[in-house]
Amino acid sequence: QTHKREAFGSRNVFILSAIGSAVGLGNIWRFPYVAYEGGGGAFLIPYLCALLTAGIPLLFFDYAIGHRFRGSAPLAFRRMHRAAEPLGWWQVLICVVIAVYYAVIIAWAAMYTWFSAQLTWGPGNENDFFFIDFLRSADVAEVGVSTEFVPQVGIPLVVVWLIVIVIMALGVKRGIGRANMILMPLLTVMFAILVVQSLFLPGAMEGLNAFFTPNWEALADPGVWASAYGHIFFSLSVAFGIMVTYSSYLKRKTDLTGSGLVVAFANSGFEILAGIGVFAALGFMAQAQGTEVAGVASSGIGLAFIAFPTIVSQATGGSIIGVLFFGALVFAGVTSLISILEVIVAALQDKLGWARVRTTLTVAIPLAIVSMALFSTTTALSVLDTADAFVNAFGIMAVALVAVIIVAWLLHKLPVFVEHLNRRSSFRVGLLWKLLVGVLAPLVLGYLLVSELMTKINEPYSGYPGWFLAIFGWGMVIALVVLALLLSALPWSGRSHAKDDP
Ligand code: PHE
Ligand code: NA
Repeated sequence: QTHKREAFGSRNVFILSAIGSAVGLGNIWRFPYVAYEGGGGAFLIPYLCALLTAGIPLLFFDYAIGHRFRGSAPLAFRRMHRAAEPLGWWQVLICVVIAVYYAVIIAWAAMYTWFSAQLTWGPGNENDFFFIDFLRSADVAEVGVSTEFVPQVGIPLVVVWLIVIVIMALGVKRGIGRANMILMPLLTVMFAILVVQSLFLPGAMEGLNAFFTPNWEALADPGVWASAYGHIFFSLSVAFGIMVTYSSYLKRKTDLTGSGLVVAFANSGFEILAGIGVFAALGFMAQAQGTEVAGVASSGIGLAFIAFPTIVSQATGGSIIGVLFFGALVFAGVTSLISILEVIVAALQDKLGWARVRTTLTVAIPLAIVSMALFSTTTALSVLDTADAFVNAFGIMAVALVAVIIVAWLLHKLPVFVEHLNRRSSFRVGLLWKLLVGVLAPLVLGYLLVSELMTKINEPYSGYPGWFLAIFGWGMVIALVVLALLLSALPWSGRSHAKDDP
């Protein structure tokens, strides 16, 4: 007996869910900062190049795999070729790592939504509040990996897990589809209000000037191009198995490339709006402190959890800005987290032939426990920072590189995908697409991977102790590959016979 594969209610629900996955923490705090570092206004050129030459072509690549082979990542790759199954498990395991820390940032943002409403940190104390009062951060070099529980992180984290478990257990149509149908319009409205409101802050124009004034010299720096490509992979969630999984829930006759273009441009729209909103707010902050915008434009976590609270303290109506900003982070984060979890749930459902609820609980409860154990303690920040840096560099980029090489060069599947994509799509692909996916993408990814490898070998990441990086950095990324091979060796349940092109 075979159970019918789940499906999205309509193409629009799929598009909304794919946008929900793409628009995440990366759009709201990562992009503004990366763009600013990469030359401000001039960064838009490498950014657009990366979007058009790598982001969108690889998005189509993921759609083609998921839609043609109609399976979770391991099943889809296995149907392509028996020996390609580990690629799917590798993506699943990357999602396992990301899920356990992504939930934590959502829990922080949820607490900060609440704190914003009442200015809990007290003006002028935003930095200490985040590291000392809220996270109770301790140094791994001194205390090792701590197990000391931090309740103000642990409790919201339980709530986040409970909410996503309910959504996941309800299934693709009633859970994931419906959550996105509700959260994405809400997110868009909150975001629009936030951006407009930030433009009216005194000093906003200075911030926008800092953001949009091009530094043309940055264009000559290969590092800037590398960061544009790196950001696009992360931002569009390509090579995570997510788009493979989601597109496997699409009806046979669907305009794949048209959907992909909508998703890609919606994601970039959010990103550019976030840049405008965040820099308007930073302009205000710089003016209030009598400094330059450059001085207050800090890095990722700092931007969200230190700079924004400062703005909330200082602006009139700051609490509203804070609630909208952190609320937007929560909603954007939840819709991305469910897409990450779906990669894992779908893979086990396919492999074991289990029902939805049973698989969801089997996946999510252990993940929630690991997430709590590692990240509601006083050394959470170091573990999170390290896991994030290593899994992005040596997980995502590595699996994307290996996948394009195997699929394009060893299995020669690109012509099949061109035909599959063109069969029902409004936007046709051809030779250019094959060159971008088969030649340009591996070159760019290979370059990025080697340069990341050199940096991380040459100096210990963020100055963490060697034993610590050996476990949560190098050890973790190596374990993913080994486990992926082991999981591929396990048998498939009879119900999900892995034949080619169903
Ligand atoms: N694309 C998301 C963002 O821009 C990040 C993400 C990564 C989402 C992995 C899901 C999975 O924030
Ligand atoms: Na994104």
